[in-house]
Amino acid sequence: MVKGERVFNFSAGPSVLPLEVMEKVAAELTNYEGCGMSVMEMSHRGKIFDKIIKDAEANLRKLMNIPDNYKVMFLQGGGTMQFSMVPLNFMQNNRKADYIVTGSWAKKAAKEAKKYGDVKIVASSEESTFSYIPKVTREDFRSDADYVYICLNNTIYGTKFPYIPDTGDIPLIADMSSNILSEEIDVTKFGAIIAGAQKNVGPAGATIAIVREDLIGHAHPMCPVYLDYKIHADNGSMYNTPPCFAIYVAGEVFKYLLDMGGVKAIEEKNKRKAAKLYDYIDSSRLYKGCVEKEDRSLMNVVFVTGNPDLDKKFIAEAAEEGLVSLAGHRSIGGMRASIYNAMPEEGVDALISFMKKFEENNI
Ligand SMILES: Cc1ncc(COP(=O)(O)O)c(C=O)c1O
Repeated sequence: MVKGERVFNFSAGPSVLPLEVMEKVAAELTNYEGCGMSVMEMSHRGKIFDKIIKDAEANLRKLMNIPDNYKVMFLQGGGTMQFSMVPLNFMQNNRKADYIVTGSWAKKAAKEAKKYGDVKIVASSEESTFSYIPKVTREDFRSDADYVYICLNNTIYGTKFPYIPDTGDIPLIADMSSNILSEEIDVTKFGAIIAGAQKNVGPAGATIAIVREDLIGHAHPMCPVYLDYKIHADNGSMYNTPPCFAIYVAGEVFKYLLDMGGVKAIEEKNKRKAAKLYDYIDSSRLYKGCVEKEDRSLMNVVFVTGNPDLDKKFIAEAAEEGLVSLAGHRSIGGMRASIYNAMPEEGVDALISFMKKFEENNI
């Protein structure tokens, strides 16, 4: 790798963004569309930013086919703040919620929700280091639960729900921080979708909440104003100063994705990239995948050599070749290649070539 050149960045988040988008942002950084100032400098109440945020919302609606009876909000606070907003807003009737715990993020979300009501962990794969997605049916949920919560893609462990749980009339709330816009999903299956932007959407700082209208407006009386979805929905995400620059970059990513052919086109590319990498891992004598095949994530590919020292050597040598941020999450070690939308197919090809070479030299 030539020093100073762009690398193939496999970081789990914040993560690689489309180069075309960043080049456009760089070109208009100090003077947005000839208005004489940067998006970072302008009032969020002005006409220019008003168009930026409205276009971003419209384009996200187009990309995800979001029906009119869902509100789209651009918030701050990351995925973590959603762990509090969800119970504060959606424990509406019985103060009961059912959680499926498929990884650390869902576990954290459940722990937070316990502060506000009666939380039941209806299924968990923690006993096997979250290496699979439990199968649940409608009967597993309490009929008087106010909502069911899942984390659709588990960034740390590299699993993804291969199915959308059937919760009957109980609203299903899903954290899609690490797989939003990676494949087509039917928004109507969810009461709310929440996602931090810093993986498939844009820079850290913006958080997306897509919430069915009838679930808005019933927040806990003690709910802080900023954490009430109604406040943001009624004010078009402009109750206070929104994360303007992050929303602007997200909006540029949305335009870029639409130009690419929308989510269907990206999904095909993502499936191709993930299949290549998993096929190689399965055929290799050195590397092992860590999760059930049917539950594998398209976005976060987790693997090990079985020898922690060799894993470290792998990560260091890969970085020397411009393949960076391949270390697994600090809680589990091993390797994790996050291959979000913006990871070019050549990045996956380069990783596989490196893996083959490393295997030959170390087996
Ligand atoms: C699936 C998922 N949910 C929630 C979070 C927490 O997001 P944040 O760091 O924006 O609070 C993460 C972070 O990586 C994540 O991967």
